[in-house]
Amino acid sequence: MTSRIPYRTLSGNSRLAGVMGWPVSHSKSPRLHGYWLAKYGIDGSYMPLPVEPKNFQAALNSLRNLGFSGVNVTIPQKEMAMPECDELSERARRIGAVNTVTFAKDGRMLGDNTDGFGFIENLRQEAPDIAFCSGPAVVLGAGGASRAVLVALLDEGSPEIRIANRTRKRADDLAAEINDPRITVIDWPVAPTALENASLVVNTTSLGMVGQPALEIDLTGLPQSALVTDIVYAPLMTDLLMQAKKRGNPIVDGLGMLLHQARPGFHRWFGIDPEVTQELRDFVLSPD
Ligand code: ATR
Repeated sequence: MTSRIPYRTLSGNSRLAGVMGWPVSHSKSPRLHGYWLAKYGIDGSYMPLPVEPKNFQAALNSLRNLGFSGVNVTIPQKEMAMPECDELSERARRIGAVNTVTFAKDGRMLGDNTDGFGFIENLRQEAPDIAFCSGPAVVLGAGGASRAVLVALLDEGSPEIRIANRTRKRADDLAAEINDPRITVIDWPVAPTALENASLVVNTTSLGMVGQPALEIDLTGLPQSALVTDIVYAPLMTDLLMQAKKRGNPIVDGLGMLLHQARPGFHRWFGIDPEVTQELRDFVLSPD
């Protein structure tokens, strides 16, 4: 019987890329890049690469020696990739982590971090009419994701950023490291007081994610014009977003950040800046 499943064969010139992580089975990147490869008819492949942290360095070098175009790097290897790169983009250096590695023709490893780019591009696409950097931003959380968001917002021209984190010291350390006078730290329990005259609220904590408690914050003091966004995308509509929508604030969910952060790598490795569409969103969210 002939299979009706359409599939692409690879040629001897196929470009190869993938995502390294441990574990990596949860990653949506193979599905995302696979969609774009099929859509644009590209002779290439993007695969999941489960690599234990102890084998990370050897694996990265092997991929270069195998002729890969590049790889995405995910938890817990984003920080481990930094010292391996021969060159880092300015944003990777400032964010302090690498999520996109490109193997140049001369063998050099180029490290970039596209998380902040993905964050901003998602807001631009989903809320094109909202000047989300016209006033203060309130950023909840002070982990790795927060750092990428902070750097991106500063670069975008945010006039003031208020960070609140459950562990105050982590926010203080992050603010001291980034060292920009536009950043202030506020105590987690009084985060609602920081919402006054804000134009943007971002949840970068894991609260609201499937299996985690909800992010409970009283939005009463937030102007109704402020954009509320969450980097959590499972579920797509978090409690925070539902609460914001109910009171009339514009909202943007976190899926687009994941989709847009993948664009620069795809562009470098496969030669096309791919489009983020509703069809792609549906495809990535549908079961494998
Ligand atoms: P990531 O790299 O994805 O940002 P992370 O570095 O583990 O992940 O950061 C998780 C963030 O969620 C942190 O800001 C964390 O707060 P702490 O620094 O106090 O740990 C926040 N977070 C996780 N669980 C939380 C909870 N139950 N209440 C409040 N904040 C929480």
